[in-house]
Amino acid sequence: MDQQHKVMILLQLLLFQVLFVASQTDSRDYSGLNSLAESWSSKPQSWVGTDPCSSWDGIRCSNTRITELRLPSLSLRGQLSSAIESLSELVTLDLSYNTGLTGTIPNEIGNLKRLKSLSLVGCGFSGPIPDSIGSLKQLTFLALNSNKFSGTIPRSLGNLTNINWLDLAENELVGTIPVSDNQGRLGLDLLLKAQHFHMGSNNLTGTIPEKLFNSSMILEHVLFDHNQLEGSVPLSISSVGTLEVLRLDKNGLTGAVPANLSKLGKLSEIYLSHNKFNGTLPDFTGMNSLTYVDLSDNTFSASNVPSWVTSLPVLTTVILGQNHLGGTLNLSGHSQSLEQINLENNDITEIDPESNLPSIEIRLANNPICRESGASEKSYCQQPVSNPSFYSTPSNNCSPPPCSSDQIASPNCNCAFPYTGLLISRALSFSNFSDAKYYREIEQSLMDTFRNKSIPVDSVALSNPVRNPTSDNFELNLQVFPSQSDRFNATGILNIAFLLSNQIYKPPEFFSPYYFNGASYEYTAGEPKGSKSSHTGIIVGAVVAVVVFVVLASLAGMYAIRQKRRAERSAGLNPFANWEQNKNSGTAPQLKGGRWFAFDELRKYTNNFSEANTIGSGGYGQVYQGTLPSGELVAIKRAAKESMQGAVEFKTEIELLSRVHHKNLVSLLGFCFEKGEQMLVYEYIPNGTLMDSLSGKSGIWMDWIRRLKVTLGAARGLAYLHELANPPIIHRDIKSSNILLDDHLIAKVADFGLSKLLVDSERGHVTTQVKGTMGYLDPEYYMTQQLTEKSDVYSFGVLMLELATARRPIEQGKYIVREVMRVMDTSKDLYNLHSIIDPTILKTRPKGLEKFVMLGMRCVKEYAAERPTMAEVAKEIESIIELVGLNPNAESATTSETYEEAGKENAQHPYKEEDFSYSGIFPSTRVEPQ
Ligand SMILES: *[C@@H]1O[C@H](CO)[C@@H](O)[C@H](O)[C@H]1NC(C)=O
Ligand SMILES: *[C@@H]1O[C@H](CO)[C@@H](O)[C@H](O)[C@H]1NC(C)=O
Ligand SMILES: *[C@@H]1O[C@H](CO)[C@@H](O)[C@H](O)[C@H]1NC(C)=O
Ligand SMILES: *[C@@H]1O[C@H](CO)[C@@H](O)[C@H](O)[C@H]1NC(C)=O
Ligand SMILES: *[C@@H]1O[C@H](CO)[C@@H](O)[C@H](O)[C@H]1NC(C)=O
Ligand SMILES: *[C@@H]1O[C@H](CO)[C@@H](O)[C@H](O)[C@H]1NC(C)=O
Repeated sequence: MDQQHKVMILLQLLLFQVLFVASQTDSRDYSGLNSLAESWSSKPQSWVGTDPCSSWDGIRCSNTRITELRLPSLSLRGQLSSAIESLSELVTLDLSYNTGLTGTIPNEIGNLKRLKSLSLVGCGFSGPIPDSIGSLKQLTFLALNSNKFSGTIPRSLGNLTNINWLDLAENELVGTIPVSDNQGRLGLDLLLKAQHFHMGSNNLTGTIPEKLFNSSMILEHVLFDHNQLEGSVPLSISSVGTLEVLRLDKNGLTGAVPANLSKLGKLSEIYLSHNKFNGTLPDFTGMNSLTYVDLSDNTFSASNVPSWVTSLPVLTTVILGQNHLGGTLNLSGHSQSLEQINLENNDITEIDPESNLPSIEIRLANNPICRESGASEKSYCQQPVSNPSFYSTPSNNCSPPPCSSDQIASPNCNCAFPYTGLLISRALSFSNFSDAKYYREIEQSLMDTFRNKSIPVDSVALSNPVRNPTSDNFELNLQVFPSQSDRFNATGILNIAFLLSNQIYKPPEFFSPYYFNGASYEYTAGEPKGSKSSHTGIIVGAVVAVVVFVVLASLAGMYAIRQKRRAERSAGLNPFANWEQNKNSGTAPQLKGGRWFAFDELRKYTNNFSEANTIGSGGYGQVYQGTLPSGELVAIKRAAKESMQGAVEFKTEIELLSRVHHKNLVSLLGFCFEKGEQMLVYEYIPNGTLMDSLSGKSGIWMDWIRRLKVTLGAARGLAYLHELANPPIIHRDIKSSNILLDDHLIAKVADFGLSKLLVDSERGHVTTQVKGTMGYLDPEYYMTQQLTEKSDVYSFGVLMLELATARRPIEQGKYIVREVMRVMDTSKDLYNLHSIIDPTILKTRPKGLEKFVMLGMRCVKEYAAERPTMAEVAKEIESIIELVGLNPNAESATTSETYEEAGKENAQHPYKEEDFSYSGIFPSTRVEPQ
């Protein structure tokens, strides 16, 4: 290695360490996030690398810990895994508007003790709301609306004494509204800081408890509409002087409305329609904030239309239809604000004054006054066909250009892909849906919010206002157009959706309370090159990093040029150039036992590389099963364009692989280097991977003896690579999916694609880019980039723990090494490992298990120097096998039952069914011949 090269590597190492220190994300958070993403079918594009805190979309950190996870409207599909509990410093969690997120909310959510805001609006979650939510004492914002939650409202919510916003609407909740009792059970009456009880559109039953309300509460919005509540309105509600909106419509409520309700001086909207109320029409005199009153479809009676209808100062809409109201409608001296009065299906006989009321929409159809002759001509007797409501944000003094098919012209006449969704008001204080002034106000307030938060929005457009006849909510289409580009990037979408899902956007008073239901956004712009600086970076570290980076970048530039020249030179020296014609010439690779295959040959053996012959695929490329003319099966690994090596490197690799012959290593049979292809031909190993056996996927049941023998075989294979191969080889990617099982269940170590020769003269370590698989990766190698055989030993230790526990190295955010360390106690029976050992093994009283786990733990020692060598590991496993009473050198594993033969008691797979997708998100899973 020349001087420059050495300097280069030193500097690279320095840079790596500086950056690592400056931008480290806590490993618990990193692995927790990985596990979360494993249960989703996709993840945000920016989620690559190992430092979520630096530049991953939707993540915010504080001191290396993740405090915010904001992923609304990202088209996530899958489940919310219990690994969420690893993100134990989370303050904000928002997964709203991902309709593909389904399943139940894991109980472990209760471990996020710092959570203040939990927003899961408009997803597909089902099952009960977990009781454990009651442990989130810091919670102020809880929005679970518009999912499929079932079961009752958990009493434990009464524990959330800091809650301000409680939205459970539009689910399938049943049972009664819980209140506290003298047996110490909790209830919603304890939520003295709540301003919002949104529980409409469920299947709640029973009465609204008197105990639910008292004068200590500060509720503004009480929405219990569209349930099956019974009984009367509790008197206590009239003591909640802060109340602004009360919705009790579409229930089975009975009796008279308490007269004291009129004390609610701040009440703006009241909905009591579609119940079974009776008694006199309530007297709302003095309720000077009332704007919208709907008492329709009850059996209220009155001998005259009461005077408050015309006298209340800000009332716009009065709906009293379908009751028993008689007498005269006297509108003289009505307030300026009145827009609509609906008295359809009552007993009104007169109207006074008869005319001159152009500003008010009056509806009297199906009253005696409209049955008089000629009355049907009167406008107030006609039934409107529908509720005509037109609005669509107009263009802003420009003419809309023609846009390509799926783009839309913004109000500022720019073609773009808008972010869309429904903006929904749950209570509206106006009824004139065609009056543009209301919509302009909403548009203005939206733009103000986006500007304040520096979100690059060009304009917003509203359209299709409609009162939804099922929910009685008022809905509007919202389109948000990007500025600067024709589409938003993921950051933009997340920010917009978060403002709306977390009620940070405050609409004008008349539209409140609202909620938003966002659509998924398909057009996200690709992320630009380079990443943002870390939120958590140590500033000094960052400055040093910049300086080092500048030096390095120039060196790297020089290096790249040199490499390119070298590559250009070596292209002329392609060792295969003439090989096809002259197969034994000097430039041909020096193979021992391997042979050259023509491309057309391999194409024939694999049925033209057909889909049916594919047995694996991954970052490297595809792996095909092929049949040679002799009938022998082979596995052919065909490199994808991106993963091809230079000719010289390819030659080196096949020369090396062809020299490696050991019973416990998959052997190379040949290769193909022709027509721009690079392929390796391996012996075919019929019984699949060790991972497939442990997971139950392959149907091969691994009893304790087999696990010992497989461990021994793999250890011997590795020891050979480390100590007998010349030059020595470090595998770099030992894991259960890289251990294959042959006919006799003998372990064969596969995939030397990542192998690194120990070519340096001073035999010690090589410095190299970190590769490997999360969970198996030696932390010392990860931090120092110094690769030694001991890194393989570390991975092997993880593999041993995997064999003993049948757990994946990182499962649901838990790291197997740490878990074993946590429970292990050598002073106790079985070292106290009962809870963690694979139960199917535990039942068979495995001999030597403690020694086995102990050995595994020595392999994963923090300092490489304290780990045994692979040869030592192999020796110790031999002694464990002898302890069991077997000969470690006997040919094959003793027992041979398959899952089916193993009988019912073993039929339960040690790995859980849904955990089959084994691939972590870092780094991409690799593929091995099978
Ligand atoms: C209420 O909160 C406390 C403190 O977080 C917790 O210990 C308790 O279990 C919670 N009770 C319920 C019913 O959730
Ligand atoms: C509520 O219950 C009724 C029957 O009792 C059922 O028809 C309806 O689908 C339920 N609604 C919801 C939202 O679960
Ligand atoms: C209101 O109810 C809560 C819980 O039931 C109670 O702690 C509080 O003292 C009550 N306030 C009044 C004024 O009765
Ligand atoms: C209703 O209001 C009257 C008069 O303000 C008051 O005396 C009475 O106690 C109130 N009733 C209830 C149940 O709050
Ligand atoms: C109101 O309805 C209840 C039953 O729902 C009944 O007992 C009561 O007599 C009715 N009152 C009037 C005034 O009709
Ligand atoms: C996303 O877009 C915003 C505004 O256009 C820009 O400032 C930001 O850098 C972009 N973020 C990423 C990760 O591309």
